[in-house]
Amino acid sequence: METAQSTLPKEEMLLAKFEEKTAAGEAIEPRDWMPEAYRKHLIRQMSQHAHSEVIGMQPEGNWVTRAPSLRARQILLAKIQDEGGHGLYLYSAAETLGITRDEMIQQLHSGKAKYSNIFNYPSLTWADIGAIGWLVDGAAIVNQVSLQRTSYAPYSRAMVRICKEESFHQRQGYEIMATMMKGTAEQREMAQDAMNRWWWPSLMMFGPHDTDSPHSADAFRWKIKRHTNDELRQKFIDKTVQQAELIGLTVPDKDLRWNEAKQGYDYGKIDWEEFNRVINGHGPCNKQRLSHHIRVHNEGAWVREAAEAYKQKQKNN
Ligand code: 3HC
Repeated sequence: METAQSTLPKEEMLLAKFEEKTAAGEAIEPRDWMPEAYRKHLIRQMSQHAHSEVIGMQPEGNWVTRAPSLRARQILLAKIQDEGGHGLYLYSAAETLGITRDEMIQQLHSGKAKYSNIFNYPSLTWADIGAIGWLVDGAAIVNQVSLQRTSYAPYSRAMVRICKEESFHQRQGYEIMATMMKGTAEQREMAQDAMNRWWWPSLMMFGPHDTDSPHSADAFRWKIKRHTNDELRQKFIDKTVQQAELIGLTVPDKDLRWNEAKQGYDYGKIDWEEFNRVINGHGPCNKQRLSHHIRVHNEGAWVREAAEAYKQKQKNN
């Protein structure tokens, strides 16, 4: 019996099957047929996610030699090492879509590929390391827990692994902030200053409002995204405001207030001009982050060449 699908040209039949699969919440594996637009969408998002993990090592790396104790330094080193590993999982997952690591790195270096806005701000004091762990990793967890159910299977598997480590990152950041808030007046002031500088850029991490998000329609159609930018931002705010109040930190938003009807916080206007300035290369640290990555990537060329030569030698034996 001819089904509606079997009368369609091959490509349309394949697309209909693909849409059926994603609509049913089934996972898409690298060997499955997928529309070019789905593949491109994922390469864009996953490579930018990977770049974010690796660039994010810089602001924290800034404080390894200045950590206030051996324990603090060990924890920070472990976290930074985790972030590098997260980048590798994500680059490997993106490579299953047919893009090479070199191409992704070139896109980053040329400015064609973005990375998260948040890593273009300076880490000025030790409290910033607390704010980054607590707020930035806290925001990343909210986003990444949702991405565990993304339709592209390698991305989903990478998220499951990454989320296991992120909760340690968030907790160590919150511990730094809680400790400082129990410290001297100067330490409390330092922690509040970090809160003031990192709060709004952390809200921007979730992307533009849903009404201004050009990629979200496709992301939902193909179940790449399971929650909207604003839903995840709201979840982060509702959870984090209570954590701030618990240790005596003030959220730097004069319009923040609990909305009983929606069972969540109403919050002030986000400065999207700042967001667009930062994600288009004009934030406080964009140039520094990129030139550092390019320098270190070039310095590390000998390692890649040696590994490649070894691989060839093994092949020829
Ligand atoms: N930083 C930089 N660019 C951003 C951004 C952000 N926070 N939010 C959105 N954008 C960009 C998008 O990339 C897109 O630009 P493009 O077309 O040049 O790629 C544009 O703004 C429009 O945004 P959309 O909402 O339409 O784009 P998406 O559907 O891709 O949604 C996103 C944006 C929610 C960030 C989504 O890409 C996503 O979930 N990415 C994966 C998570 C991620 O990248 N997290 C980064 C942090 S990793 C991290 O924090 C490490 C932690 O361990 C410390």
